Amino acid sequence: MCPQWAHRQGVARWVGPAENVGVAPASAPLNLNGIIVNIASITEPAVPAYPFNQLHQVDALQLATSFPNASLDMLLTDPPYSSGGLHVGQRAQTTSQKYISGNAQYQDFTCDNMDQRSWSFWCHAWLSQVNRALKPGGVVVCFIDWRQLPTLTDVVQAAGFILRGIAVWDKTAGRFRPRRNGFGQQAEFIVWASKGKLPEREVYLPGVFQAKLGIPKQHLTEKPIDMARQIVRLVPPGGVVADLFAGCGTFLVAAKEAGLQWVGSELDDHYHQVASDRLARTAPAPLQDLAA
Ligand SMILES: C[S@@+](CC[C@H](N)C(=O)[O-])C[C@H]1O[C@@H](n2cnc3c(N)ncnc32)[C@H](O)[C@@H]1O
Repeated sequence: MCPQWAHRQGVARWVGPAENVGVAPASAPLNLNGIIVNIASITEPAVPAYPFNQLHQVDALQLATSFPNASLDMLLTDPPYSSGGLHVGQRAQTTSQKYISGNAQYQDFTCDNMDQRSWSFWCHAWLSQVNRALKPGGVVVCFIDWRQLPTLTDVVQAAGFILRGIAVWDKTAGRFRPRRNGFGQQAEFIVWASKGKLPEREVYLPGVFQAKLGIPKQHLTEKPIDMARQIVRLVPPGGVVADLFAGCGTFLVAAKEAGLQWVGSELDDHYHQVASDRLARTAPAPLQDLAA
C-alpha cells in the first residue's frame, strides 16, 4: 500500500501500512537566505530502529524515522520519480507504460504517481529524517531524471543539506530513448549534498559516468552496479550506507561488497525478494582487495 497523509483535527498523520501509523515527521529548520526558520525540529527517531545489514520490507519513511541520530554515512538512493508525464493522466500510468519503450517486460513498481506538490513534500519528509540520521559530513546521493531535477535540488536544500553538485549518468548508445527532432534522453542525474562540511578524505569521482546496463535488467529502472561501486568509495571504512528505495538492491550490494554496513527498504514483494536474494549471494570483498 502506498503511504499517504491524512489530516484530522489539524494534525497531519502518516497513514501507511497499519503498523506504520504515527504522527507526521516534522520539518528540519529551513535556511531562507541565511535566516534559519525552525518549523519544528526533529531531534529523536520516531520509532525503534530497524537493524542494519538487512533489507526491510517497510515504507521508506518508516525506515527513515527509525534511524538513530548520527548513525549513517551515506544515503545512496533512487526514489520513484513520479515523473513520465506533465499531466495527471500521463503520470497515473503504470511504470512500464511510462518508462519502457519497446517490448521488454518488467514487473511494475509501486508509489510512482504522486502529483508534483505531494512528491516535493514527501521527499522533504524522508530527506529531513535522513538529515537527522546522518553523521556530520555525511552525504546524500540521489538519482533523478530531468523532469524532477529542479524540484529535488530545492527539496534537498529545504531539508537542511548543502547542495554540492550534480553528476551525470550517461546511459550510452543504444540504451536511451531517441527523440525525433530533438535531444535524446541519454542521461539521468545524480544530485549530491552534504550535512555540513565534507570530511577531509582523498577520494575523487568523475562528474560523468558512462555506464551501459545489461539486458535483461533485474528492475525496470535499475542503475548500473559499476557506478554504485564507485560512489560508495566516498564512505569511510566501516561506514553505513542506506537506500530507502532499494529496487533490486544495486546500491546495497555495492555497499556490502565494499565491506560497509548497509540498510534499506523496498515495499514491493517481487523486488524485495529479488534484492534479498541478490544480497544473500553477495560476499564482502576480502580486506586486502579493499585496501588496493
Ligand atoms: C527507482 S526504483 C529503484 C531502483 C534501484 N535503484 C535499482 O537499481 O534496482 C524505486 C523502488 O522504490 C520502491 N518504492 C516505492 N515507494 C516506496 C516506499 N514508499 N517505500 C519503500 N520502497 C518504495 C519501488 O517498489 C521501486 O522498486
